Amino acid sequence: MPMLHAKISKELAEKAKSILLRTGSLDHARKIQHRRSYIYFPVVIEGENTKKLLIDAGCELVDIKDVKNTHADMSTSLREELGTDRIGVRYDILGSTIILNAPDDMDMERIKEIAKALRKANPHIKTVLAREGAVSGEYRTRSYRYVAGRKSFQVLYRENGCVFSFDMRKTFFSSRLSFERNRIAGMVRDGEKVIVMFAGIGPFAIEIAKRSPHSEVIAIELNPYAYRQMLKNIELNKASNVKAVLGDVREVCKSYREFADRIVMPLPKISVSFLDQALQVAKDRGIVHIYSFVEREKGLEGLIDSIKKHGKANSYSIEVLSSREVRPYSAQEIEVALDYRILLH
Ligand SMILES: C[S@@+](CC[C@H](N)C(=O)[O-])C[C@H]1O[C@@H](n2cnc3c(N)ncnc32)[C@H](O)[C@@H]1O
Repeated sequence: MPMLHAKISKELAEKAKSILLRTGSLDHARKIQHRRSYIYFPVVIEGENTKKLLIDAGCELVDIKDVKNTHADMSTSLREELGTDRIGVRYDILGSTIILNAPDDMDMERIKEIAKALRKANPHIKTVLAREGAVSGEYRTRSYRYVAGRKSFQVLYRENGCVFSFDMRKTFFSSRLSFERNRIAGMVRDGEKVIVMFAGIGPFAIEIAKRSPHSEVIAIELNPYAYRQMLKNIELNKASNVKAVLGDVREVCKSYREFADRIVMPLPKISVSFLDQALQVAKDRGIVHIYSFVEREKGLEGLIDSIKKHGKANSYSIEVLSSREVRPYSAQEIEVALDYRILLH
């Protein structure tokens, strides 16, 4: 029988543990488990408040029988099906769908064997898809091919206490940004006015809005499918303080001059070309969270220089608040998040 655990990275575990003890949610009948850089606290949670406190502290609530056994079951299934317990293919699980990131030259037979082994180890999985090619175009979409199970590209995915529904083929979505969405949502003070540019199906905007119900969040998206799906996700999550706007950030921002306490810019490939719009919508001392691809070797220097240069030409300076590596992007590039404050002159 699966059992609920609060999964949390080791660095954040102390805070989560104190919440569990304070709210009486730690299940003392079961063992706390450690796996890689995570701690899994066995929990019994009554009430949405405790759930929210844990999610706010960075926990993911996962329903698993036994952390080590889950991994052992996986190894056994892989060995039985593939003759090895290393599949050599990265994958993401979105709800009941597995997305394989197989090399382009891997043959379909091998991909199907991997899918079979993964499904055996994860009985709740209904569909296996494989990524095809790179993210491309203005809408930042990519192709997926059907591999096994029920043939569907529609996903229902839970993250940080919210739920998102969308078709993988028609919009950008990456579960690898869940930490970032949790991080940003945790920084927003209730009552803030926030602009989320490049909002996709709404994960940044909705997670912020749910955590800060008195905030006002404007979420701008160009792709009509993603926009329609964002409207559905706003409804699914009862996030009525998000206003989705269909259109180009370059145009829509003109209607929100000096509106925002905080601006989120999750379009790493070209976000730097939207600094004019960030400035246009920012209040003095407004905070910007910009995502960008940078060369691993050079780090943030070039990005910060570009923003400072833009500031010089437009009468503002910046205070860098923090930065972090979000994920590797290619052999030479990483995606970074930079948080800075706009100080108008
Ligand atoms: C990398 S995705 C990020 C989606 C979303 N924030 C997320 O975390 O899943 C970038 C999104 O920006 C949208 N986009 C690209 N150019 C745009 C523009 N000029 N104005 C508004 N949206 C744009 C794309 O359609 C895409 O959905």
